[in-house]
Amino acid sequence: MGLRTIEELCAELEAKRKSALEGGGKEAVDKQKAKGKGTARERLAQLLDPGSFVEIDEFVTHRCHNFGLEEKKPLGDGVVTGWGAIDGRKVFVYSQDFTVFGGSLGEKHADKICKVMDMAMQTGCPVIGLNDSGGARIQEALDAMNGYGKIFKRNTMASGVIPQFSVILGPTAGGAVYSPALTDYIFMVDGESVMHITGPEVIKAVTGEAITSEELGGAKAHNTMSGVAHFEAKDEAEAFAQVRKVLSYLPLNNLDDAPFKPGNDSPDRADPALRTIVPVNPNKGYDVHEVLTKILDDGEFTEVQAGWAKNIVIGYGRIGGRSVGIVANNADVLAGCLDIDASDKASRFVRHCDAFNLPIVTFVDVPGYLPGADQEHNGIIRQGAKLLYAYSEASVPMVTVVMRKAYGGAYIAMGSKSLGADVVLAWPQAEIAVLGAEGAARIVFKKEIDGATDPGTKMNEKIDEYREAFANPYRAAERGYVDEVIMPEETRKAVYIALEVTESKRETRPAKKHGVIPH
Ligand code: HXC
Repeated sequence: MGLRTIEELCAELEAKRKSALEGGGKEAVDKQKAKGKGTARERLAQLLDPGSFVEIDEFVTHRCHNFGLEEKKPLGDGVVTGWGAIDGRKVFVYSQDFTVFGGSLGEKHADKICKVMDMAMQTGCPVIGLNDSGGARIQEALDAMNGYGKIFKRNTMASGVIPQFSVILGPTAGGAVYSPALTDYIFMVDGESVMHITGPEVIKAVTGEAITSEELGGAKAHNTMSGVAHFEAKDEAEAFAQVRKVLSYLPLNNLDDAPFKPGNDSPDRADPALRTIVPVNPNKGYDVHEVLTKILDDGEFTEVQAGWAKNIVIGYGRIGGRSVGIVANNADVLAGCLDIDASDKASRFVRHCDAFNLPIVTFVDVPGYLPGADQEHNGIIRQGAKLLYAYSEASVPMVTVVMRKAYGGAYIAMGSKSLGADVVLAWPQAEIAVLGAEGAARIVFKKEIDGATDPGTKMNEKIDEYREAFANPYRAAERGYVDEVIMPEETRKAVYIALEVTESKRETRPAKKHGVIPH
């Protein structure tokens, strides 16, 4: 046959490229589209800066010889991998192709994902995975399972080194859920994404419980009930916009700084509304988001896990152009108390910020831990301890603003001076005490109240006495537990100055392999 011409060789490459682009074929692509879903490559084009995607491993195929799979060897093996840019910053990506064997993960499919993860680690860049998969490729059996194990190991090694995001764009069943669960964030699309370990049929067979796939593991379920997901989007485009937004606050890796984005919002801006948003009466609720938007640059707050454990609010913003992580009690929900889910939610976020060099600004208005046998029996002791652990371990700059209540153990847990806050600010209505005035008066003056001719009047007297003496920021300021008592409207400027002065903070930790965080 002799040597082929360059034209013939190029035509062969062209044909292979065309074949790779076909994925699972027209019929499967039409089926995908009919569900309102994008194809793997369309999704990457939508996520990344226009024209920035570079694909690798386009011609990889599986090497399975079971159940007739040897007759079907689609190029790319059901996952599109490579790199591209988001706001001009390099990211590595993979996008599972449901049109090829249902996006199921076999040996080579896993190898492709591992390759981009390794490149991301070597170059210090985020990894974004677009997941749309029926789980372990059943025909490949143990090789598929081994592939998952290799990804889990890499997810864990990359944790805290590079940001890892998982966008769920279809079913993720069985093993497919655990790689996302090991990444920083899970983004889900309403009516499209589903995550579960065992599906409705298995549940029905084992427990008799009838539940739909959507109710069991849809975006709503994981964004409001389980806390598994972090962002809920109405469609794929919104999920990609969320990914891009979140990434804008983060450095590319743990040795990098977050992008600095100075705008036109002066750090000196004083908003008089802050005097009235938080009522002086400790029994009155308010929406803490209003406080946050008054303080952050351009009123912009990007919330994480907005639908779950709403008694605590976490998310990103900027102050004077610097990215910060925000943790805030929300008095509107359960009076802003700490419970199992709130502790879980906030502690993971504190560790995330610490890993990626983001200063943490904590807004405190906390009456204590949620009482109840349910909380105790489900482990509020160990779950609550996570928050103490996370703040104590963090070495990034930490600024805490005590807006109103800061009682007892919950006061200590919410980024107190003793756990390592660098600058603690308090508002004039702050009540930093071991208990609320009412509870404290009942205990300390019990005998006096019980022995009084009019116990009700006596009790009110004693509550006032206690409040006058302790329910203020000045006892804590006398001891230096609070660095400065400020007017509410001075908060933005004071936090900005605190962040500026602590920017060069360096803290060392005792040498150890790792701690044993309570779980
Ligand atoms: C091989 C698979 C597959 C899989 C789907 N397909 N899942 N092939 N291995 N895991 C194939 C189907 O055979 C079908 O091929 C095509 O993908 C599309 O699937 P459909 O079922 O037609 O699509 P749909 O109706 O949308 O249902 C999607 C689905 C369902 C819900 C994901 O396919 C499903 O339940 N799949 C199996 C899920 C599962 O049990 N996975 C294994 C989990 S065990 P054709 O040729 O007909 O188009 C696991 C353990 C790992 O993951 C543990 C690691 C530690």
